[in-house]
Amino acid sequence: MVNTSRLAALLVASSCTFFQFGTVAAADADPDPFVEYTSHSPAAQANNQSMLWGPYKPNVYFGVRPRVAEGLWSSLMWANLNTYDKINKAFRYTCEQHQGLAGYGWDEYDLRRGGVETIRDEANQIDITVSFVKVDEGDHGGNWAARIKGVPRPDAPEDLITMIAYYIASESGNLDIQDISSGPGFEGNVAFTGASPVLGNYKLVVTKGKGNHPESSHELADERPLDLTAVVSAELPSEILWQAKQVAFKQLSESVKVVNSRYQGEQLPPPSLVYKLKNQPTRGNMQIVQKVFEGAFEFDVLFTSFASEHEMTEKVVTSQIESNTAAFNEKFSSVFELKAPFNDDKYKPFAKSMFSNLLGGVGYFEGHQLVDRSYASEYEEENEGFWEETAQARARKEEALEGPFELFTSVPSRPFFPRGFLWDEGFHLIPILDWDSDVALEIVKSWFSTMDEDGWIPREQILGPEPRSKVPEEFQVQYPHYANPPSLFLIIHSFTNALREKHGKISTGGDLLPVSDVPLGLAHLTDSTLGADYLSAIYPLLRRQYDWFRKTQRGGVRSYDREAFSSREAYRWRGRSEAHCLTSGLDDYPRPQPPHPGELHVDLMSWVGFMTKSLLDIADALGLEDDVAEYKKTYHAIQRNLADLHWSEKEGCFCDATIDDFEEHKLVCHKGYVSLFPFLVGLLEPNDPKLGRTLDLIGDEEHLFSEYGLRSLSKQDELYGTEENYWRSPIWINMNYLAIVQLRETALQDGPFKAKARDLYNRLRANVVNTVYASWVETGFAWEQYNPDTGKGQRTQHFTGWTSLVVKIMAMEELPAAAGAGAGAEGGARGEKDEL
Ligand SMILES: *[C@@H]1O[C@H](CO)[C@@H](O)[C@H](O)[C@H]1NC(C)=O
Repeated sequence: MVNTSRLAALLVASSCTFFQFGTVAAADADPDPFVEYTSHSPAAQANNQSMLWGPYKPNVYFGVRPRVAEGLWSSLMWANLNTYDKINKAFRYTCEQHQGLAGYGWDEYDLRRGGVETIRDEANQIDITVSFVKVDEGDHGGNWAARIKGVPRPDAPEDLITMIAYYIASESGNLDIQDISSGPGFEGNVAFTGASPVLGNYKLVVTKGKGNHPESSHELADERPLDLTAVVSAELPSEILWQAKQVAFKQLSESVKVVNSRYQGEQLPPPSLVYKLKNQPTRGNMQIVQKVFEGAFEFDVLFTSFASEHEMTEKVVTSQIESNTAAFNEKFSSVFELKAPFNDDKYKPFAKSMFSNLLGGVGYFEGHQLVDRSYASEYEEENEGFWEETAQARARKEEALEGPFELFTSVPSRPFFPRGFLWDEGFHLIPILDWDSDVALEIVKSWFSTMDEDGWIPREQILGPEPRSKVPEEFQVQYPHYANPPSLFLIIHSFTNALREKHGKISTGGDLLPVSDVPLGLAHLTDSTLGADYLSAIYPLLRRQYDWFRKTQRGGVRSYDREAFSSREAYRWRGRSEAHCLTSGLDDYPRPQPPHPGELHVDLMSWVGFMTKSLLDIADALGLEDDVAEYKKTYHAIQRNLADLHWSEKEGCFCDATIDDFEEHKLVCHKGYVSLFPFLVGLLEPNDPKLGRTLDLIGDEEHLFSEYGLRSLSKQDELYGTEENYWRSPIWINMNYLAIVQLRETALQDGPFKAKARDLYNRLRANVVNTVYASWVETGFAWEQYNPDTGKGQRTQHFTGWTSLVVKIMAMEELPAAAGAGAGAEGGARGEKDEL
């Protein structure tokens, strides 16, 4: 038995509770070091304009917003309305795991033009396709549109009823409604107008669209006919405005209440009449447009900036959708030309989807971040038992909100990690750099603009109440003594190499190319002056982060009487506990036990080495000779200390180190990703015997090599597969990617290990691609990690972050079997030499 008052109560109880968070006053923003050079460059301005709009709310199935704080955002919600017992479960808004979807995401997407997202909503028996298009025009970021199409799935009943609620929120003033019709609803299109400083004046239209509507003989059907569109408006405070689902549920529950008061105990009206909003359009910063369809449907959302010459119309949408698909396919084939054996047509939709979901996961976030700035003495982590002291210091809860900050970033997983993660981001940007280097550079710049005066960047960016509502309290606070792998250096280093390869010598401050010669998305790479200006603006920021790492994450050499070439180059991640070293990014990977202030971490030393190498190359490109000399010295010291402090001749691999009971330096070896780090970031010379032994470890099936990819920990390790088993056996694609890139490097350089590297490269490349592909075919999703015994995807579903690196791997060529010394160093392969 269902009665409406119970339904109303359910709605209120389950989802009408609004989140409440504190707020703080705005901080002064630092001056933007990039404004200077971009203001002289029409190409940079054009690039910036064309990035204004996008599906930059990746946490929802479809949500469009501009890349500015005070904007206009809108998003799609829908639900099946065939039965009463479904509404809570059937309502779709934020991306969620295990919601009965048979896959969703972008089949094609280009940040400059738009794309196509398909949502296979098995539980609601409908497939929804959203075609998003953008047209650059005028000086307010141009126009955009979304065509939203629903097609019942084969198992759906003929009278499948789908309710659409399109949510529109203005963060900058109220929206007006044109032609407010009195009465039960709108027969035709609904048009809103509004204005904001960045967007100028604009119009947003939700069209009538096509499709049938449910018919009913119930008396309510006359009062609220379902062929009419209803609009509900309100003026809401901003701390409520972002909570779209709760707002919609609140409105629906009003509707339920009215029905409830009239039909107590009598026969209930059909759900489509009960969950029908009462048409109450008025001026407001929140507008919900509701439509109820039976069977298939289609409608458009059309945004026109009054600064553009043309209006966005249904006709424009139709023609843009066609040209976008053609342009995407053409660009995809040239940027990621899939190589054998993955050049078969069956891999194309997979590769396109993997890349499109990565780029389609780019979002804009704005708000305050929780930071503990107590700089408690416990956070120095100098005592034995430090992890217990730091736990107590954290428990004092001295965090406060800082900001507001803005961040433009790709997210690791839309349902589970819809926010910025520092160590993931460098990997996300590897394929994006190939596709649209201007977007990649913009994202790097955005991350560095969240860095503090000391050079610290929060490793997880939980900006504002919306992302915060998704994070358990114990993970919300950021600590300014916590580091995280500086993966963004991968991008700036690659960009520097690409720029020099293309132009030879580069210099700042010269004449810029005419804007007509500079393609959108490749401006900094095409115009070497612009590229050099960017490098020169970001270089001091990179240096500040580097100095922060070397100062705050230093490990003890002399203090423990360690013998090493350099008394300075040794590093220790701060923030570890007995079970975790979260800051390393490799959470539960085994480390020395118990934790000790004299511990040294080989992965961190490798990252610092890689930062040094990157800065060396950037400083060299910019002609900073003194800096180059300094980096060379440090780099040499790090290479020497890696051997002196971390190499185990007995185990044949690099290891973490600690201080034993006799106060002596002691290596602690858990063979796995950590042991490979100096190799993974390219610090080993081609003829170094340590390289040979690292390759032996990689290739050993009893340790790391499997038919699905490299295991995170050796099968022989006593902790293999134990406890959380997060980084203790599963296969991770980011680490496998680094291994594949370095194996290829080794295979193409002269040296004693090239034949071995070539063989491992070919086999590992094929294994990794086959693994990700097989799970995608089976489940419709990319996964966070893959099982080392079965190859099946596991943990977070729809993990379209660094797992998308598979596209880069497919675009690398298979190397022919070695035919004696000298083979393989041939030209053609050199174009990709600077993967790192
Ligand atoms: C980029 O565009 C945004 C939005 O129009 C604007 O606020 C920002 O100042 C622009 N940045 C640059 C460097 O021109």
